[in-house]
Amino acid sequence: MKVRTVRQHPSRLPADDDHPYRTGAWQPNLVEYEATGLDVEGSIPRDLCGVYLRNTENPLLPAIERYHPFDGDGMLHAISFQDGAANYRNRLIDTTGLRAELDAERPLFAGILEDPKRSERPGHGARTAMKDASSTDVVVHGGRALSSFYQCGDLYAHDPVTLQPRGRQDFEGRLPSWGVSAHTKLDPHTHELLMFSYSKQAPYLKFSVGNRDGRLSVQRDVPLPGPRLPHDMAFSENYAIFGDFPLFWDPKLLAQGIHHARFFRDTPTRFGVVRRDGSGDVRWFEADPTYVLHFSNAYEDGDELVVDGYFQSNPAPKRQPDDGPYSMLMRYVDVCELGARLHRWRLNLVTGACKEEQLSVEPREFPSINPRHAGRPYRFVYAMTTKPGWFLFDGLTKHDLHTGREQHYEFPPGVYASEAPFAPRPSATDEDDGYLLSFTSDVNADESHCEIFDAGDLTAGPVARVRLPARICSGTHACWAGADELAHDAERATASGD
Ligand SMILES: [Fe+2]
Repeated sequence: MKVRTVRQHPSRLPADDDHPYRTGAWQPNLVEYEATGLDVEGSIPRDLCGVYLRNTENPLLPAIERYHPFDGDGMLHAISFQDGAANYRNRLIDTTGLRAELDAERPLFAGILEDPKRSERPGHGARTAMKDASSTDVVVHGGRALSSFYQCGDLYAHDPVTLQPRGRQDFEGRLPSWGVSAHTKLDPHTHELLMFSYSKQAPYLKFSVGNRDGRLSVQRDVPLPGPRLPHDMAFSENYAIFGDFPLFWDPKLLAQGIHHARFFRDTPTRFGVVRRDGSGDVRWFEADPTYVLHFSNAYEDGDELVVDGYFQSNPAPKRQPDDGPYSMLMRYVDVCELGARLHRWRLNLVTGACKEEQLSVEPREFPSINPRHAGRPYRFVYAMTTKPGWFLFDGLTKHDLHTGREQHYEFPPGVYASEAPFAPRPSATDEDDGYLLSFTSDVNADESHCEIFDAGDLTAGPVARVRLPARICSGTHACWAGADELAHDAERATASGD
């Protein structure tokens, strides 16, 4: 392995830091590397060609008072594969907010656990006055990697292989001024990017569709009764689906400027369905009260729209008498405590009825599927298991929706993974013919790998473990972009008018 240090960043975090999400597996990275000819245990499949990208919450400065991991500054990690070899790069995302804080040598923006009035700058986000840290998700669209922020922000663009900054993707300046939510949805059949934006301003939710040449084809309102906190959306071939979940800022407190998320357990969940071409009215369907952080997929089945996602049985964990300073934060990011289980809603587009059923009794989250089945009928969901009490991924599962059976792979103690997207084998005909990729952080050995699994049999363990030049911070959302997606360069296409 040949390693070059590209940049070293200063850290202004306390030397004796004890924050559970800035230490251990969540220790931020300060060095940017470029590494070629990575060392491999096993062998990298020669038909694996493309790039695996992961975003990471990687704070360089302390919070004003209370840090939440979702506030961390974005850092991208990319590993590219061709002809059985791998190269790696990581880059801090040079956001406007981080640059201002580094210049000021202190935090300027209040985070999710802090009063927004403490922000010294106007800031961004649905809550307003936040730093747009661009640290939540990453997708590849129009040949560019787009990083995004969970409470709405800009889409920062990067070369997906070199991670060089490429400005921002604002779809010719037509995205809402609020920005867009972290979870955009890529439809690989149409190459459209489906986006939603939410804010405290009526109509509270907007839906946009961008094509891969950087133009916006749809933008419409999806009016809600008030400010909501949706994190993800779903789509089928013809419809976009949005959740109006009864976990939102308490309106009475919000009127006093206090942002306190409360679960209104007697208020139903509502799903709003709109046509992807933007036409027609929003259709609403009522379901049991819950909160869904992530959907796995949706598809059309006769008169019904099938929507799969993770139903939370306990979206607002309660404070306990012996709680320490980090206890509530720990509970709210603990998939086991939240009781997130795979669930199916069937929305009948003729009768307006909604039927729902639990698909698994096991707590899981952070799903991925074969992208060729996105918005279409599908059979397999891959998801992460989490360490109880922690926002750490300790295993990988494959759920067969036809048989109900699950396969499980558990990482060794002290090894934590990131979201594991599916990379289809180029010649595949079977849905599970492909690979799952994940970056792991081993806190005992102080090293990191990219682990590659044969999705046909997770229980066999990784077919290859590719060593990275340094241990990387634990992180969450990730994506796979195959060679065909990397080939489309949006800027070149726009310039030539094709
Ligand atoms: Fe997410």
